[in-house]
Amino acid sequence: MTTSFSFPSGFHWGAATASYQIEGAVRDDGRGESIWDRWSHIPGNTVNGDTGDVACDHYHRWREDIQLMQQLGITAYRFSIAWPRVIPTGTGEVSAAGIGFYDRLVDALLEVGITPFPTLYHWDLPQVLEDDGGWPERRTAYAFADYATAVADRLGDRVKHWWTINEPFCVADLGYRVGTKAPGRHDHHDFLAAAHHVLLGHGLAVTAIKAASPDAQVGIVANVDNHMPRSAHPADRRAAELAHAIHSGWYLDPVFRGEYPEAAVNHHHWDQREVAPGDMEIISTRVDHHGVNYYTRKLHGDEGIDDLERPAPILHADLHRTTMGWEVYPDGLRELLVRFNEEYDLPPVYITENGAAFPDEVVDGAVHDGDRRDYLERHFSAAAEAVAAGVDLRGYFVWSLMDNYEWARGYGQRFGLVRVDYETQERILKDSAHWYASVIAAATGSIEASEEAVDDGGDEVGVEGLPADEATVEDGSVDQGDGA
Ligand code: FCB
Repeated sequence: MTTSFSFPSGFHWGAATASYQIEGAVRDDGRGESIWDRWSHIPGNTVNGDTGDVACDHYHRWREDIQLMQQLGITAYRFSIAWPRVIPTGTGEVSAAGIGFYDRLVDALLEVGITPFPTLYHWDLPQVLEDDGGWPERRTAYAFADYATAVADRLGDRVKHWWTINEPFCVADLGYRVGTKAPGRHDHHDFLAAAHHVLLGHGLAVTAIKAASPDAQVGIVANVDNHMPRSAHPADRRAAELAHAIHSGWYLDPVFRGEYPEAAVNHHHWDQREVAPGDMEIISTRVDHHGVNYYTRKLHGDEGIDDLERPAPILHADLHRTTMGWEVYPDGLRELLVRFNEEYDLPPVYITENGAAFPDEVVDGAVHDGDRRDYLERHFSAAAEAVAAGVDLRGYFVWSLMDNYEWARGYGQRFGLVRVDYETQERILKDSAHWYASVIAAATGSIEASEEAVDDGGDEVGVEGLPADEATVEDGSVDQGDGA
């Protein structure tokens, strides 16, 4: 099989992580407790009772981890900043040690030519703020903006690309209504209030970051599944569209259109009592870039509403699945990117997460994860097709740089390009990492590529170990697929 993908010049080739999933050191240097510390320690909440107490011990091994990034050749790194490390009491005083960690990390990344793309909130709310009501309280949005100011004041001279919130759906819906993520609440109204305040916090933070660092590029990261109808039957289409409105439109319409999607508002019976005058203007403050996390699709039919009050998804038996149970469906990435590009006035877009968990095995010191490499290759191709269809895609962050704490699913789900042995903290580059390194090297010209391999418009990459000019197809012949 040969595949090719071509991305514009200057494309950011990255990998992503999140603080609670990799850092460990949860009590070091005065770090405050987060909702994940609290919730993961409650028996029954996570697989095997796993917690992020130690995780990949990145807080102590970050230098070694930057060396891994160099081995991969990534040009950009998306990580998250732990609010309770920076402001242990949630509001007020900044911890010199806490911010110092990220300060050194940023310097070290820049020194080796890796552009930092930090996320301010990847789910680790200071527990004190949850004790004070958490995201369902409006004041949490303002506390978030103050925290954004504190971080941007200290790092904004060097960090130019920011993400405010990671996956507002997971924060609000899974954290406050479904309860499968911290803080694990089960309250419909709390969810509605949390969702609005998370978006409000995002909008406030955009302005706060730019006040501290006027040339900053700021955006939000949303998780989007491709919600597809099982057939062209109107009932199936309605179910898929409602699911799309509940999961994606709920968070994207406010940011890009200044309003909530009516179908989802009606579905949730929301009277919008939390929406104060001016909120929607704040939430729709123009962003400079947009982050898309894509993993899978959901197929819907007229199956009714599930116990989470959402159109029930159907699993398609023919599709390969990851160990998360997620169907592998690369076309969905292209379809969604093209759809969003048509429906919203989008700024430049980044794939901020894409990757897969598979049952890796270590054999003679190596991990032959052909399934992960295949997953990535097919998704890169789908993303390149979206570019050919007019999407302004600027970068791609593979989830994840290394195996890590997969939230309530614990350490059993391995998403890394790099294998982590949690007993010894030894890291091994998996085959997918070596492959990704060769893709990046070819694309960035850091290995010798034949002249034909690089066209005027961008960096074209050949794969399967062939010289790029033998392995690629011409731009014009890239299959746009039926979803484009
Ligand atoms: C996303 C999260 C990320 C990771 C991946 C697998 O929802 O943002 O932290 O858990 O899923």
